[in-house]
Amino acid sequence: MKIFLDTADVVFIKQWADSGLIDGITTNPSHLSKAGGDPKAVIQEICGLLPDGDISVEITQKVPEDVYKQAKAIAALGKNITVKIPVHEQYVHIIKRLVDEAVSINITLVFSLAQALMMCKLGVNYISPFIGRLDDSGESGIEKLGQIRHMIDEYSYPTELLAASLRTIEHFNDAMLIGADVATLPVKVFEKILQHPLTDTGMKRFDDDWQKLGISQFP
Ligand code: E4P
Repeated sequence: MKIFLDTADVVFIKQWADSGLIDGITTNPSHLSKAGGDPKAVIQEICGLLPDGDISVEITQKVPEDVYKQAKAIAALGKNITVKIPVHEQYVHIIKRLVDEAVSINITLVFSLAQALMMCKLGVNYISPFIGRLDDSGESGIEKLGQIRHMIDEYSYPTELLAASLRTIEHFNDAMLIGADVATLPVKVFEKILQHPLTDTGMKRFDDDWQKLGISQFP
């Protein structure tokens, strides 16, 4: 399973970039707005921090032809860029064009099985169902993720399933069990990912017992 960080926080990304755990980054206009500064420079810095990672950068234009031009310009920012485009009927033709031109595409704001299937038909690299936002709207995001996994497997689409808008460790665990190809984790979730209270108490107990030996060097 690939793990992406869902942030444009360069300081945080720097801390984990060479850890071996991070396969990419997903940014969006909200993340870049929060990061501040020049978004182009922020993206270029992130691309440099993870030269082998997959860096998703979202379009901000609205008119299809402008979106197409912007997508090409975003893709040219780095060799490891994936362009994020919201699933919308007005963008179908340009998504097809970009796929034909070998631009890596991540379809964002996916909320339905039908949207997911249509985007898989276009041959995009990733589709991103938003789990937390589905939960917010009263649907089960994880159930929808499972349905989309089933659909992709049923028809053998090569598109990767990217679980987005994950808010909790439970979301992450469920995404794993469903077989999402990628989970993009916000900083708050990633920070908790390696923690368990029994690990902490276990470490303390081992340390207490070790100290009873009273030796200062080992081995
Ligand atoms: C990822 O690609 C999305 O931008 C992100 O997961 C959205 O998460 P949110 O619903 O918590 O804003």
